[in-house]
Amino acid sequence: QPIRLVDYQPPEFLVERLSLCISLAADHTLVRATSVLHRNRDAAKKSGPLLLSGEHLELLEVRLNGEKVAPDAYRTTPESLEIDTVPDDFQLEVVTRLYPDRNTALSGLYRSSGMYCTQCEAQGFRRITYYLDRPDVLTRFFTRIEAEAESFPVLLANGNLVAAGRLPQGRHFVEWDDPFPKPSYLFALVAGNLSQIEDSFVTRSGRRIVLQIYVEEHNRHKCDHAMASLKKAMKWDEEVYGLEYDLDQYMIVAVDHFNMGAMENKGLNIFNAKYVLASPETATDQDYLGIQAVIAHEYFHNWTGNRVTCRDWFQLSLKEGLTVFRDQQFSADMDSAAVQRINEVRTLRQVQFREDSSPLAHPVRPEEYVEINNFYTVTVYNKGAELIRMLYTLLGEAAYYRGFALYIQRHDGQAVTCEDFVQAMADASGRDLSPFMRWYTQAGTPQLTIQESWQQEQGLYGLTVSQQTPPTPGQPRKVPVPIPLLIGLLDDQGNDLTATLSGDHERRGDDVLLEVTEAEQQFRFTGLTSRPHLSVLRSFSAPVKLHSFRTRDELAFLSVHDHDLFNRWDAAFSLSELVLLDLVTEDSADRDERGISDSYLQAMQSLVRSSITDLSLLAEALRLPTENYVLQKLEQIDPDRLYQAYHRGKQELAAFLETDLLDLYRKYRSTGAYRFSREDVGQRSLCGVCLDYLASLAAHRTDLTELCRSHYQEAGNMTDRMIALTAAVQLEGDLREALLADFEQAWHREPLVMDKWFAVQASSSAADTVGRVEKLLHHPDFSLNNPNRVRALIGTFGQNHFHFHHHSGSGYRLVTRVILELDALNPQVAARMAGPFVSWRRYDGQRQQQLRASLRSMVEKPGVSRDLYEVANKSLGDQ
Ligand code: ARG
Ligand code: ZN
Repeated sequence: QPIRLVDYQPPEFLVERLSLCISLAADHTLVRATSVLHRNRDAAKKSGPLLLSGEHLELLEVRLNGEKVAPDAYRTTPESLEIDTVPDDFQLEVVTRLYPDRNTALSGLYRSSGMYCTQCEAQGFRRITYYLDRPDVLTRFFTRIEAEAESFPVLLANGNLVAAGRLPQGRHFVEWDDPFPKPSYLFALVAGNLSQIEDSFVTRSGRRIVLQIYVEEHNRHKCDHAMASLKKAMKWDEEVYGLEYDLDQYMIVAVDHFNMGAMENKGLNIFNAKYVLASPETATDQDYLGIQAVIAHEYFHNWTGNRVTCRDWFQLSLKEGLTVFRDQQFSADMDSAAVQRINEVRTLRQVQFREDSSPLAHPVRPEEYVEINNFYTVTVYNKGAELIRMLYTLLGEAAYYRGFALYIQRHDGQAVTCEDFVQAMADASGRDLSPFMRWYTQAGTPQLTIQESWQQEQGLYGLTVSQQTPPTPGQPRKVPVPIPLLIGLLDDQGNDLTATLSGDHERRGDDVLLEVTEAEQQFRFTGLTSRPHLSVLRSFSAPVKLHSFRTRDELAFLSVHDHDLFNRWDAAFSLSELVLLDLVTEDSADRDERGISDSYLQAMQSLVRSSITDLSLLAEALRLPTENYVLQKLEQIDPDRLYQAYHRGKQELAAFLETDLLDLYRKYRSTGAYRFSREDVGQRSLCGVCLDYLASLAAHRTDLTELCRSHYQEAGNMTDRMIALTAAVQLEGDLREALLADFEQAWHREPLVMDKWFAVQASSSAADTVGRVEKLLHHPDFSLNNPNRVRALIGTFGQNHFHFHHHSGSGYRLVTRVILELDALNPQVAARMAGPFVSWRRYDGQRQQQLRASLRSMVEKPGVSRDLYEVANKSLGDQ
């Protein structure tokens, strides 16, 4: 049943051009697809039937070179149309009927609120017509749309608008022509009563591009930030990568119902409204940052994804890893580079490392899949981006950009593989990068062990670095991978010694680059007068786990002195992790006597009092690792103990720092007009962290409760409002109820804001959380048909570690019930919601049983989707 990479065969037919006529009627849609096909000379098979993919379609007519094909000359299955005899070159006409209003899976053509829209990646086009729905079949698309004029005045598709006009009975049509050949997954169509904002961008070669964002009229005033982000992204890609936009028009449409973040359809991006709409009143700073990143990501796909696309879906990271790396570079240039990197690493460690050690672990280039939609993962996206970053580090900036240019020049207009990308990098740099391909094929997170040595007499400092990757499902034995290790050496005053080192070490900026290629390797440094302090894995130069080898004093030293801002944060973060782990694992007998160590409290206090001017960075340094991160180091996870230790540690730290936190809070608390600037975002972020700590002490402290209340009441923007609401929701009492009621009353007309209201309750640590989530399932505004709402309530609750794993099993039962119901409507989202069950083996016997029973009920559900089946079945493994 799974599809395997090794079985890849070139397509037997190629499509010269495709002309679509899509007619939207009140309760159905008619699609006439006319294509010109040729047998592919490069295919292994030179004869045989034509096999097209198609799902959920009513086939009305098939014509070959204008002649009707008799029904006994073709066969349909629920997934295909097979035509027995076809010549080598021919025209094919297929007419199908579909019912977009009933499409709850949100794949293919569907209705969202008042409009029609499409999502064709990965395999949604086959729900529109029978077709060679695979990324290595590229063709020129011509699209004619017909619809009722009054309800659907705006009709959009890919490319350039070439004709429009009226039709009888109040209908009208529009015709679009896309000059760039593309695979079907990049097709898009939109029909609705939409209003637009328009702007323009002049490219460096002087072409004027029209930029349009289409939204519902009442959201028109929320598009400015998205438009500004688009223009920044266009300019950045010209300046940094030398890439210019190619069509005359670039359109973005925001829709309320969307399975993922956004989609890079050629010339017509379709976005989850969450990544377009922003106003200070309705969106937080994090939303603003997310919009900027996703707008850029989809724009960058125009070259990395669309002009050069993927040969097959196993190569997904070819476009996604690369495009994520590009959007990360962009974000680093727009805002605080260190904070950007910190957030990337938090995601990697907390989400990707977990996936990589779970039953769902898979290589950046998977070898097989049952349902490709299950492989739009943090591994393919974010670990994939780290692979590109490692190439950048290994080759150096100049060779990296030469390699990138070569890749585009060689493969423009083609559907290629990850090897093709790495080969271009190898050719441009003159390096043999074949060992690097192991990063694409081997799953699991490498573990690095580091040993230091020092010989005072010779001034000789040595490092022994060894690597080892634990087994993952289907890959019991691992080989070493090439790891670029950026390091720095500091003296006791914190001065960087890198410049004074002798030996022929490669440099990358202020850092030394060590290339670890073997299972174990030695590195030596001479010319030192005293034992140096090691700053290792600077900027997180490789996606690896570091065996802790440094003393707490050493970490405290680095958290104050390291020149690499990322590593300074990392030292504080590692220190916090060690302290929290101590609290979780220490014997319950002496739990009350021992507190957290003084040296840790002192280190955190010197951070709070330090002169860090980047307030976002200071905020990140103070933010503790989450429970979901800390649990990775535990043999067997005890959710109750973890929760108690975590909150006890946080409270103790908050109590120790209380006056400092209050001082910081008062110093940076501002109630002026909202600006989305680095300084203001930093101030709000820092105040948010302070309030979060202070609220953890608020249970018996009316002064601190009042602080939350006034923060809410004085909030002039959504960022501050959510900071206060999040703090208040942790407290059981009047304040929580009052603020939740006020918020609901004020924002019930704004779906994206109501998502926050649902999510904040699902994430609460308060004792009654499961009961509240249960109640919210019956709230009139909750709907299984809206993925954003499902993610807000159920997705967030699944990440609420303590309550999801509540010993009564009530959290498990609630989520299981929702998943089973949702699977019949929207399999993609249902499969995502099963994530929190995957690592069931890590829990105690009783929880294991309950989690496993849940997974079984998913696997055994009559009519279970491929999506959910694959996730649940893999999680159960060979029991
Ligand atoms: N290519 C889109 C992106 O920018 C993701 C779309 C995936 N959609 C899906 N249903 N699998 O990352
Ligand atoms: Zn993407």
